Amino acid sequence: MKNILYAASECVPFIKTGGLADVVGSLPKEIDREYYDVRVILPKYGCMKQAMKDKLEYITEFYMDFDWKSCYVGLLKAELEGITYYFIDNEEYFNTPRPYTDDALFEIRRFAFFSKAVLSALPTLNFRPDLIHCHDWQTGLVPVYLKERFQENEFYRGIKTVMTIHNLKFQGKWNVQDVESITGLSGYYFTPDKLEFNKDANLLKGGLVYADAITTVSPTYAEEIKTPFFGEGLDGLMNARSGDLRGILNGIDYTDFSPEADKYIARPYNVNNFRKEKVKNKIELQKELGLGQDEKVMLIGIVSRLTDQKGFDLIAYVLEEMLSQDAIQVVVLGTGEERYENMFRYFDWKYSDKLSANIFYSEELSHKIYAASDAFLMPSLFEPCGLSQLMSLKYGTLPIVRETGGLKDTVEPYNEFEKTGTGFTFANYNAHEMMAAVRYAEQIFYDKKRDWNKIVERAMQADFSWKVSAGKYQVMYDWLIGPTA
Ligand code: ADP
Ligand code: GLC
Repeated sequence: MKNILYAASECVPFIKTGGLADVVGSLPKEIDREYYDVRVILPKYGCMKQAMKDKLEYITEFYMDFDWKSCYVGLLKAELEGITYYFIDNEEYFNTPRPYTDDALFEIRRFAFFSKAVLSALPTLNFRPDLIHCHDWQTGLVPVYLKERFQENEFYRGIKTVMTIHNLKFQGKWNVQDVESITGLSGYYFTPDKLEFNKDANLLKGGLVYADAITTVSPTYAEEIKTPFFGEGLDGLMNARSGDLRGILNGIDYTDFSPEADKYIARPYNVNNFRKEKVKNKIELQKELGLGQDEKVMLIGIVSRLTDQKGFDLIAYVLEEMLSQDAIQVVVLGTGEERYENMFRYFDWKYSDKLSANIFYSEELSHKIYAASDAFLMPSLFEPCGLSQLMSLKYGTLPIVRETGGLKDTVEPYNEFEKTGTGFTFANYNAHEMMAAVRYAEQIFYDKKRDWNKIVERAMQADFSWKVSAGKYQVMYDWLIGPTA
């Protein structure tokens, strides 16, 4: 039996802001339990739902030197569906109203604390991982601290690390002087071949330099980040470490996302009866959100963080034209940059029959949108993997996406001659190309309903469960720590 510890800043069902939580929540369950004991360690956020906090059980506490102080580290645990979750408790760092704050220095401080606390906690947990699987910049210092100080100690010797990039844009950067002081790492670590980047300290870079292997969440993104456009300044490092870098596509958990057994949706449906049943969800949602009630109109869904990454400036460019001319309705669920939130509020006011803006976070409404919409728009500028399009596919809601990252790897463009494909795609980051793709989808939806339904069938049958990808992670674990006996 090999022991694997996942260290991350979010995880379903405890705390979620995006796809990272879905992945850390679902992947451990799919790793073969006969050979691997996978556990997860997370910060204990004050903003976790009470029902989740109630599941936590106190283990112990200790004090750890960090940032020139002796800091409290509480350890808690929970067991859910056979997986053990550990939590690092410290009110000063994690009792925030939301999982992340806008204070960049505080973010550096609390996740540096988390990374050190994860390693410090191991001997007390009675669980010595053979490998620590780190996710995103928040855990970038784990491989660094491990090499820098912990491995001097017999207990830690030989522990391997993997760094998974869910989004290269977020790197955890701050000036070297402060980071040196906060982390206690010596000046030796802050050179351009280690944590320094463009005069700043960069926590993700630390993880990428010191981890034994690097993964990202789709094969295409693994290639893209070796180029300057997607590399966010780290393309050189990605090229240098390309032998240790692999792209493993995310999956989703079909027990949480299945139109046949979804507790949130009005009418369950499957690949055999969607022609009659799926549309009932549309009518319900139109009623609920005050959109014009018309089962024939094409409803386009958007569920997303409202940020640049997701391609909202393309939408901003042509939305007026499309709402004024096209027979479409649009339903948006998301929060993020104010300019995008306000844009959707404005169109909700101007075209109240045609667009519904829901500027908040809601698991329930997200499921209703995946089920009720005919198409799902995701014109991302870049997309490490993307899970929303996988959810849409499962619900027979045809994705309209830009061919980048995981979107390119998961949505097969409709080919009307060969009768293949699961959605609609466009190549260039250009608003009119996006609009042409949407309008092409409209044309198939309205004029070739039979073809549309065939695409829906293929989309619903596409398999993006974790099966294959979990196997690829296991191959990598074995490569690093030797096969399990
Ligand atoms: P990212 O992680 O970049 O935000 P993904 O497509 O990988 O993008 O994952 C996004 C996840 O977050 C999906 O599960 C999506 O349904 C969910 N999500 C995003 N915004 C909201 C929201 N406002 N309410 C509910 N779920 C949301
Ligand atoms: C990030 C990426 C998204 C990916 C998710 C889970 O948030 O933006 O593309 O699906 O992580 O890996």
